[in-house]
Amino acid sequence: EKGGYEHFMLKEIHEQPRSIMDTMRGRLLVEEDIIQMAGIWDYQEKFLNAERIIIISCGTSWHAGLVGEYLIEDLARIPVEVEYASEFRYRNPIITDKDIVIAISQSGETADSIAALKLAKEKGAFIYGICNVIDSSIARLTDAGSYTHAGPEIGVASTKAFTAQLALLAMIALKLAKHKGTISKERFNSLIIELETIPERVAEVIKNTESQIKKIAELYAGAGNFLYLGRGYNYPIALEGALKLKEISYIHAEGYPAAEMKHGPIALIDENMPVVVIAPKKGYYDKIVSNIQEINSRKGKVIAIVTQGDTVVKDMVTESIEIPDVSEYFTPILSVIPLQLLAYYIAVLRDVNVDQPRNLAKSVTVE
Ligand code: F6R
Repeated sequence: EKGGYEHFMLKEIHEQPRSIMDTMRGRLLVEEDIIQMAGIWDYQEKFLNAERIIIISCGTSWHAGLVGEYLIEDLARIPVEVEYASEFRYRNPIITDKDIVIAISQSGETADSIAALKLAKEKGAFIYGICNVIDSSIARLTDAGSYTHAGPEIGVASTKAFTAQLALLAMIALKLAKHKGTISKERFNSLIIELETIPERVAEVIKNTESQIKKIAELYAGAGNFLYLGRGYNYPIALEGALKLKEISYIHAEGYPAAEMKHGPIALIDENMPVVVIAPKKGYYDKIVSNIQEINSRKGKVIAIVTQGDTVVKDMVTESIEIPDVSEYFTPILSVIPLQLLAYYIAVLRDVNVDQPRNLAKSVTVE
């Protein structure tokens, strides 16, 4: 049932072109120039008049929520807050009937997310679910929702559910932007054309980087710590890369927004500290370049994720992994792939149970 792969996690990493496509199928209609999502369309008024969207989730799904915040604020200009379900529910949050609360959950069974949603519902918010498991508790509890169609995810470390969440959030943000009129027709059209090509781009990333990443994993499998840095859309991906590594390889890893490095973590950098820097040629590229200079001057070892054809960062670092050049909105879907593979191959070398890491459960039904 692992389809010839050694672990479910590797199979699920490889399934991503397909699972992203399945999530977009029937929704992203390029010919008709529309994004069709009944869950949003039926409650259009609510979404367009929402004063705020609050996204609640845990773990990897929380990282997807952070990318969702950038997407929805940037494209649809609706204020978004992203909250850990466990913090939100216990802090007497301010919620009104002008709020939309979106829960993101692969399993749809995460106890803290369910409790946070119930609280939001009691306070009158419209509650929306983004779940992978059909008919799960969250899917049933919510007023409306959209499924990610990633298929069953068996590996405890979430991979294909995450990229499906990112694709779904991109569609929601683009659809809201279109109806709100916060992006032009031309821009909407060119972005959906590009989004449709993302599954192929993901396939390219896997094909072009996997053997390189295996070698990098050999160099760093003995490391005691890792730092992951990213900015903007790729800051949540730094968090996600670090989470993947710690949960399956048991190496301590931290993700940080790159600019925060100088406020503390820079003290950790020496020749024994591998630093994964997500540095696509987008947004604040120059700033990322200077972060890399700072790491280099302290002899840290940089593994950089760069845009194909990049020469500047490439010349500065020992290892660079290329991803195709796409709009910044979609870079997280590509940049996370090498980080999933890196965590996977390091874990394999450390001979641990990749699919069932110690102390972790696939769905966290305890509070
Ligand atoms: C990490 C991981 C967990 C889950 C978290 C939320 O790889 O799988 O961090 O993302 O437990 O689970 P769901 O999305 O099922 O609510």
